[in-house]
Amino acid sequence: MALLLLLNYFLAQYDKLILSYFQIEVMRDLRLTSTQYGLLSGYATGIVSALSAIPIAFVADYSGTRLWTLTAAALWWNICCIFQGYSHTFWQMFLARLAMSIGQSPVEALSVSLISDFVPTRWLFLIESFLYVGVYIGEAVSAQIATAFGRTHTPWNDALKAIGQQEQSLANLIRQQQDFPTRRAILSSALRETMRLSPPVIGVMRRVTQTVRLTNPGSDRNSTTSHIVPAAHDAWLYFVAANRDPDVFARPTEFCWDRFMRQGAEVPTDEDCGIAFGLGPKHCLGADLTREICLTVAETVMESGLAIKGGGQVVEGVKAWLGWEAHAGPEAMTRDLKQLPCQRPRDPVMVTVTHAK
Ligand code: HEM
Repeated sequence: MALLLLLNYFLAQYDKLILSYFQIEVMRDLRLTSTQYGLLSGYATGIVSALSAIPIAFVADYSGTRLWTLTAAALWWNICCIFQGYSHTFWQMFLARLAMSIGQSPVEALSVSLISDFVPTRWLFLIESFLYVGVYIGEAVSAQIATAFGRTHTPWNDALKAIGQQEQSLANLIRQQQDFPTRRAILSSALRETMRLSPPVIGVMRRVTQTVRLTNPGSDRNSTTSHIVPAAHDAWLYFVAANRDPDVFARPTEFCWDRFMRQGAEVPTDEDCGIAFGLGPKHCLGADLTREICLTVAETVMESGLAIKGGGQVVEGVKAWLGWEAHAGPEAMTRDLKQLPCQRPRDPVMVTVTHAK
């Protein structure tokens, strides 16, 4: 992958530079003034490339479309390179060069972004230096290729067309690679999965103001799984059970760190990820803040190379209450608790809430 990124970067540089080796012929054939040639070689590429890099790379990085964007960009600038070969006027050439620069602009930023996600921290400097060698290889190779074209008396426009056509295959190779999820996407998914299985708040109380019958989605009102919750009872909405609902989560009791990883820009919502911060009108106002803090701490731990191992031993009753003992009965669930799941009335009512999609 690093080699592919290096090649792509080098070709982007090379296509930018190759025109300068045909300066005399291009100025003669297109009847260019020195100012016009200056615009083609400098402003048309440099400034546009620098300016368009920021938005394109930003959107591609944050929407998880880095490889797709690199492929599309490579195809685009190759077409523009071919189009330069067909140019007969200054304006045709100028527009082709502008369009080519837009295609080349995200290459550097996206390559660095990809490298920082698939290369371990201690190799980062080495691999990024390897990428930047691409600029110098681009310069050296473009000179060699131009000399070869010169020796064979290939006209500049045929040379540009040939270069553009040759490079299409690299774009195809990039498209076949698999994108790497960003480190933040992995941590974010692992954090949400942790909160699904072990939410810090395991449930909330609600006082029932009128008698309601709870039924599972799709089941009959009179089915045996429906429950009547009488008015004036305090109902315990048990997040731990809802988060293990097999109708909502495949392999509900397993910890799957990549369960909430999504392709593209889609960010999982709280409703997709189980309930840790409540839902609806009383949804936790600090949910985003808390997640940001946890992710930042996790990233800092990773970056500083700390390893955290082991965990506390959970006593039996609490373990059952937290949902870690699938077959535990009410006695086990209440053994080590300081607070009962039902406060009122005297006879306890346990309501199981399933998380409906
Ligand atoms: C691990 C950390 C946290 C957890 C697990 C958590 C969990 C919850 C839960 C489950 C609720 C819903 C309560 C209900 O439905 O009755 C809630 C509500 C709330 N949380 Fe958090 N919370 C956390 C951190 C925070 C922080 C850091 C803040 C403030 C900066 C905060 C502010 C609130 C507020 C204001 C509500 C009430 C919202 C309302 O009633 O409209 N929470 N939280």
